[in-house]
Amino acid sequence: MIKDRFSRIGFILAATGSAVGLGNIWKFPYITGDNGGGLFVLVYLVTILFVGISVFIAESYVGYATHKNSVDAFETLAKSNKQAWKFGGFTFVTALAILSFYVVVIGWILKYMVVSITTLPQSVQEAQNMFLGMLKEDMFSQIGYFVVAFLIVAFIVSKGVKSGIERVNKILMPALFLLLIGMLLYSMSFDSFGTALHFMFYPDLTHFKSESILIAVGHAFFTLSIGMAAILTYSSSLETNTNIVKSSVIVALLDTLVALVAGIVIFTILFNAGFESSQGAGLVFITLPALFYEFGAIGNILSLAFFTALAFAGITSAISILEPAVRYVEEKKEVSRVKATYMISFGIALIGLATLLSNLTPFSNTLTFGDKNLFDWFDFISSSILLPLGGIVTALFVGFFIDQNHLKTNMLHYMSKGVYNTWLFSIRFIVPLGVGIIMIEKLGLFS
Ligand code: PFF
Repeated sequence: MIKDRFSRIGFILAATGSAVGLGNIWKFPYITGDNGGGLFVLVYLVTILFVGISVFIAESYVGYATHKNSVDAFETLAKSNKQAWKFGGFTFVTALAILSFYVVVIGWILKYMVVSITTLPQSVQEAQNMFLGMLKEDMFSQIGYFVVAFLIVAFIVSKGVKSGIERVNKILMPALFLLLIGMLLYSMSFDSFGTALHFMFYPDLTHFKSESILIAVGHAFFTLSIGMAAILTYSSSLETNTNIVKSSVIVALLDTLVALVAGIVIFTILFNAGFESSQGAGLVFITLPALFYEFGAIGNILSLAFFTALAFAGITSAISILEPAVRYVEEKKEVSRVKATYMISFGIALIGLATLLSNLTPFSNTLTFGDKNLFDWFDFISSSILLPLGGIVTALFVGFFIDQNHLKTNMLHYMSKGVYNTWLFSIRFIVPLGVGIIMIEKLGLFS
């Protein structure tokens, strides 16, 4: 049982730090842009409400009720077939797959912090050349930033829950919120602010496709950090007598708020310059830097603020992705935390290096399999298959395979009977069926 624990506020900040990440500031705005705005946002919000929060609470329960690493937590709570159920805790393997490419992107962000104060690209064309030049040609600087990003993440995790993860989140999360509030206030001074609000919140069918539903649901998992033992592991380091339901709702709310604010800020800047909403994945690394240039010196400051916020968001998420595996190795193999952290980080960094190389022209042929390179495969397999699968397993586990009397007695401390029954229905049926159908569709299993 872990002794190094979060305080209550530390947990909320750390879990919010995990949830608020590149998914909110980089991915959410561009997929919202690509999927037509308002209606997509609505589907995303409904999914967070009915699926995301339910799984988040279920995961928190497994960790909190046992105070053990994910594998032991599943094994302890399972009513029967303990040996089989402990594999439910190995979802942290997904975390490691995500980490390998996630840190590559944090590396790009660190580079763009430097670009912000040195050489902002002067046009979208130049910005595109700059980004693609880095991505496809610039091996050494990309590896350099990647290594720095990995060392930062590993260093924080090696310091432990209280003195590492909690301390860093207590600084970076409020700083991130301040930066975002500052950017929101600034964006209110533009005429395009209203257009951005309209785009984000007016449900318009024009660009909404049927796949948009699948994308929104998949993103709800990714953004809340559920389905891969991260929230479970954080909750296992939580003080007893904490209202896990209330904390889960707060985290989900903050996460959603950050995504919406990031979207509003980015679309205000985009529409102000007369750009279309659909800019694809390059939105943050190509379109925005070129637009920041237009603002002169203020643009440099804005750009630095933006990429700093993005770096903070990415780092606080990456540490939560590394933590479950570290906890497992630390507890099961009786290795010190420092050694466990650096051993795992080294292994994942090697895989991350392969995903990084797969984007580079000289290696891309060798490291492309079928229609995707290694980087895209890791992203696809983890987000579209492993995370939803992890979510379904956890939901079914809590819904059917643990002591239901115990679960009910515990949960009724935190929610009314009516809310409890709705939650149970959600994890027993809505999550497995809803998410199952999405996976089948997304993977085209029956087409
Ligand atoms: N929630 C993070 C984001 O939105 O960027 C990504 C993430 C973190 C996914 C932790 C999964 C996870 F366990």
